[in-house]
Amino acid sequence: MGIINESGKIIIAIDGPAASGKSTTARLLARKLGYTYIDTGAMYRSVTLKALEAGMLERLHENPEEIEPLLDNIDIAFDGDRVFLDGRDVTAAIRENRVSRHVSFISSLKPVRDILKQMQRNMGGRRGVVMDGRDIGTVVFPDAELKIFLIADASERARRRYAELVQKSGDNNSVPSVDELEREILQRDKDDAARTHAPLKKHEDAVEVDTSGLTIEEQVTLVYNLALEKTAV
Ligand code: CDP
Repeated sequence: MGIINESGKIIIAIDGPAASGKSTTARLLARKLGYTYIDTGAMYRSVTLKALEAGMLERLHENPEEIEPLLDNIDIAFDGDRVFLDGRDVTAAIRENRVSRHVSFISSLKPVRDILKQMQRNMGGRRGVVMDGRDIGTVVFPDAELKIFLIADASERARRRYAELVQKSGDNNSVPSVDELEREILQRDKDDAARTHAPLKKHEDAVEVDTSGLTIEEQVTLVYNLALEKTAV
């Protein structure tokens, strides 16, 4: 049992592979519980955008330590569903596929993980948060009272990501095909699971939830009921 604070609030960690439904579930769950939602993928995406805009991607593959100056004084903030990088609204930019293609590489760098882990611990320290990512239950908050590992079929995940990108861009010509997205998603899962620092893996205490056949409402209700069991002390 973790450290439930005096308000009875807990930490809920939702981990899992790409496009498995983590952020949708986490956002709605946080709303239902009156908790704060923290999308840690958005933080890794923000660092990736910063590196892309600085034209550093190629150099970083050869000299990963060159990421360090970019992290000095980096400011990543959330305001509701919006994400701000150094004061600029990057909510849409971080979802672009050019960011998705490079985010696993940037996320594998130790200085990046160290700084974001510290920010995440500061954000969740007072509990009452739902945090989603790859290493929340294993590394960031191993004492989270509820740990969920969300999975779904790769084809279903690619279909969801396609629909999301079409909806966001308003134009399906600029969006990669479902097959291409499935390949990219599987590659990213492989890279995220194979890296040395904080790889994607299920914590032994995590409850595995397969969202393949579930509606959004069903998956949120399922996790909400698990959260109620943990808070009913
Ligand atoms: O939404 P989607 O599942 O595609 O990805 P995301 O949650 O936005 O995460 C993007 C990428 O950030 C992942 O593929 C990981 O490489 C990295 N990430 C991580 O390493 N650790 C986290 N806690 C969260 C994301």
